[in-house]
Amino acid sequence: MKAMEPCTIVIMGAGGDLARRKLIPALFRLELFKRLPDNMAILGCGRKPMSHEQWAAEVLGMLNEKHKPEVIEQAFARFSARLQYHANPPDDAESYQRLQKTLDNNPQFPPNIVFYMSVRPAEFLPIIEKLGNAGLLQEKNGWRRVVIEKPFGYDLLSAQTLQQSLYRHLNEPQIYRIDHYLGKGTVQNVMVFRFANILLEPIWNRHYIDHVQITHSETMGIEGRAGYFEGAGALRDMLQSHLMQLLALVAMEPPLSMSAVHLRDEKVKALKAIRPITQNAVHAHAFRGQYAGGVVNGNPVPGYLEEKGVAADSVTETYAALKLFIDNWRWAGVPFYLRTGKRMPENSSAICIRFKNPPQDLLKHARHGSQHPNWVMLGIQPNDCLKMEMQVKVPGLDLNTRTISLDASYHQKGEDSYDAYEGLLLDVMLGDQSLFLRIDEVETAWHVVDPVIKVWAMERDFINTYPAGTWGPRGTYRLFDREDQFWRHSLSLDGANFEAY
Ligand code: BG6
Repeated sequence: MKAMEPCTIVIMGAGGDLARRKLIPALFRLELFKRLPDNMAILGCGRKPMSHEQWAAEVLGMLNEKHKPEVIEQAFARFSARLQYHANPPDDAESYQRLQKTLDNNPQFPPNIVFYMSVRPAEFLPIIEKLGNAGLLQEKNGWRRVVIEKPFGYDLLSAQTLQQSLYRHLNEPQIYRIDHYLGKGTVQNVMVFRFANILLEPIWNRHYIDHVQITHSETMGIEGRAGYFEGAGALRDMLQSHLMQLLALVAMEPPLSMSAVHLRDEKVKALKAIRPITQNAVHAHAFRGQYAGGVVNGNPVPGYLEEKGVAADSVTETYAALKLFIDNWRWAGVPFYLRTGKRMPENSSAICIRFKNPPQDLLKHARHGSQHPNWVMLGIQPNDCLKMEMQVKVPGLDLNTRTISLDASYHQKGEDSYDAYEGLLLDVMLGDQSLFLRIDEVETAWHVVDPVIKVWAMERDFINTYPAGTWGPRGTYRLFDREDQFWRHSLSLDGANFEAY
């Protein structure tokens, strides 16, 4: 393992939702497991003026939302000794000069610095420019790295413009474009599953695979994030980034090695092979919807239009589904169905791969109902799991068949699960970019969704709705290539979970 150098993490937007829910808890867990270098400081930057004590109390509040007091007690003294706060009020022209002085003159802050942009996308560039103008991005006596959250741009052109502007202050090795899905254990397991086992490789192609479904569903609504979500929508928020990355991992060719360069080269190749969706084909390839009021987990919830900060006539999608084809030797003709939605019945992310039926239906009279194909499923959350559905003979004198599910839960007792941000923060400190996005990956993903974004942006009069607590708008079956293809809502063997819409 590479040794970790002492460093400073500066969280821009320390008072925001991401810092509260993910970054601070992840850093604390790394503290708990003694994975942080001894000499490391965490500097929170936020708009609100605050003393060190107030910031430490605020951090404690964030941790209390996640951990029991006895867990916090184990490491909070060590953790709070690393904490500092710097106020960056938007109207204070001097604040970045003060930040530079604080970081350069105070020996508590090691000169290797990570700047984490935990702010709204519109603020990435103005903040980086201010950091650059204050000389904070120059690597004089230590490295400087910047973590940029998604979405990187809001379409292809804006992503390219953002990139050009970043290059005025940063070199590529300094830029960490984060997609936290790549830090999830099961997402990395897609690569292990494919490349550490020979069993699947011969059947991992268009000869055996009927189609692939990649789903992310959430019971949550927009959780007070209307300011961001109204401009983004589900397509940009989840599909262009997280789901497209999952698709790349399922579809890519084996890389030459697991190095950042080789891995990203293969992902880009797969993404580049996606057949462009022409504007007049958008309706055959994409479906959007917006949640109306409904019931989730037994509780009544308001519709999207009733959420605070949402325009009364908003057509922002909270559900998006795409059908994509990858026009290469391995995948020609195999549809990849991607969908994501808020206010759905369950929190679940999974990759479900449906295989073709055997060439001859020899056991037709040995079963009730239609043929059940093989499925291989990788559950990402809430439980990471691997399942495979196959046919077996029902015990007894007669020749009857039924479907069984081979369920390989691979978590063993005592093996800890971790949050994606924990591993990714360590990677940034170690300088490992393998699980971060290269600009050509981002551009290619925008290239795929851009035509859909354009058409949806023009259609401002109507959006399909779905009651909160259901699996999305009716009509999404239009995307399927054949009548025997359905959305798979659950990884368990329950026929009722297949639905055509
Ligand atoms: C974020 C999106 O990137 O991912 C959110 O902005 C979404 O809208 C979240 O809720 C889902 O992440 P996770 O790790 O909870 O599945």
